[in-house]
Amino acid sequence: MSNCRIHENFEADFEKVLFDEEELQGIVHKISEEIKQDHRGEEIVLVVILKGSFIFAADLIRKLFPVCYVRVEFMQVSSYGDGAKSSGELKLFLDIKPKAVKGKKVIVIDDVVDTALTLSKIKKRIESLGAQQVQICALLDKEEAHKIDIQIEYKGKSILNEFVTGYGLDFGQKYRNCPYVGVLKKEVYEK
Ligand code: PRP
Repeated sequence: MSNCRIHENFEADFEKVLFDEEELQGIVHKISEEIKQDHRGEEIVLVVILKGSFIFAADLIRKLFPVCYVRVEFMQVSSYGDGAKSSGELKLFLDIKPKAVKGKKVIVIDDVVDTALTLSKIKKRIESLGAQQVQICALLDKEEAHKIDIQIEYKGKSILNEFVTGYGLDFGQKYRNCPYVGVLKKEVYEK
C-alpha cells in the first residue's frame, strides 16, 4: 500500500469551477477556427510553453488537422515557481533550436497571461532567432494584471486577476490533471 495518500478527494480543495470541460472544449474550438481561418493550408510552428500549456496544446493541435500543417516545439519557462503569484522573472529551462523557427510562421501557445512579461520575452527571443512571424495564443488572460502591452492574436477568455488551477495549470505542481479550470480555496494556497 502506498504511504503517499494525502486525502481522498482533491475536488474539495476547489472553491469554484470557472470553466468546465465542455466550456473549455468550446473555447479551444473557437481559437482553432480563428487559427484555421488565418493559416489555412500553411505550415505553422506551434511553440508550446511548458508545463502549463500541455493539455490545452494537445487539444488545440488536433483541432487544426487537416487544415494546417503543424510542427510542434517546446519551451519550458517558469515565472510562478511553486507559488501563487507571478514573479515577473523569467527562468528558461528548455529552449528551442534556432532552425526550428527561422523563417517560419510561429504561434506561441500559453495557458495564462498574467504580467505578460513571460510572453513578451519569449516573443522577442523567437523573433531574434529569425522567425518570419510570431503570434501569441493564450487560453486565459488576466488583463488587469498586465505590466506591459502585449498583442494576443488568439485569446480564449479574459478572466479576473485570481489564481486559477486545472487543465494543465498547477499550484505547487499539483492539480494539473484536474479536467476543469477552477479557483482553489484560499486556505489551500495560503497554507
Ligand atoms: C505561467 C504561465 C505563463 C506565465 C505567465 O507559467 O504558464 O507561462 O506563468 O506569467 P506572466 O504573464 O506573469 O509572465 P508558470 O511559471 O506557472 O510555469 P508552469 O507553466 O510550468 O506551471
